[in-house]
Amino acid sequence: MPTVLVVGATRGIGLEFVRQYAADGARVIATFRRPQDAEVLRALGARALPLDALDPDSIAALGQQLDGQPIDVALLVAGVGGPNTTELAPPSREQFDEVMRTNVLAPMQLIPLLAQGLESAQGKLAAISSRRGSIGLATDTNSWLYRASKAALNSVVKTASIHLGARGVVCMALSPGWVRTDMGGPSARLDVRDSVTALRRVIAAANRSHNGRFLQHTGEQLEW
Ligand SMILES: NC(=O)c1ccc[n+]([C@@H]2O[C@H](COP(=O)([O-])OP(=O)(O)OC[C@H]3O[C@@H](n4cnc5c(N)ncnc54)[C@H](OP(=O)(O)O)[C@@H]3O)[C@@H](O)[C@H]2O)c1
Repeated sequence: MPTVLVVGATRGIGLEFVRQYAADGARVIATFRRPQDAEVLRALGARALPLDALDPDSIAALGQQLDGQPIDVALLVAGVGGPNTTELAPPSREQFDEVMRTNVLAPMQLIPLLAQGLESAQGKLAAISSRRGSIGLATDTNSWLYRASKAALNSVVKTASIHLGARGVVCMALSPGWVRTDMGGPSARLDVRDSVTALRRVIAAANRSHNGRFLQHTGEQLEW
């Protein structure tokens, strides 16, 4: 029975990962912020652990709870979209801090805590990035703070892949497509079930040759 950690498991893509992996019989560890969300995760069969990605002490506490246990799949899903800007509207300092701390700093604090568990399981780390994080594919100016955060996250994953790849871990940045969630909105093209089913297929098929890659939910390799 594989162990799957879902960081940011209470809504949208993270919650659907919990549903699908739990339904498949995986041992799922899922993080929450609000106590009422823990009940939902437990009802799905997951072990629920608290985590606020904006709080380094909370991240350290999660590391202690996990205590280096083998992790076959670690999914870094927690993220925020930040302001819906167009053109070059500057973000406030508060907006910058919230987006960059959630989407970039938290993964940089979490990955080292997960390294031992991932190495002992020879596991896979998937950070949920976005096609909007691709510098090479950028064609519009919407939400430039979010784009910057996901481009930075991609760099974090690439660097982690060099370190952890040498220890047998596969690290990937994955784009889920445009998904109907609170963040994606009601007009998004993909149902969350379809996106997560496709992402799980990409994760299951990944081997060492996929370490350090940026992949779409379809499996297509994306330009950084
Ligand atoms: N939806 C899309 O179209 C789309 C496209 C590309 C990439 N993505 C990426 O996919 C990931 C999931 O997106 P989604 O659409 O499922 O978003 P969502 O429905 O808004 O859910 C966001 C999740 O992140 C958690 N989260 C946010 N800030 C957190 C914090 N400080 N500490 C702990 N958890 C926190 C939320 O927890 P709470 O419930 O506690 O707030 C929630 O579980 C994000 O990284 C997003 O950037 C989404």
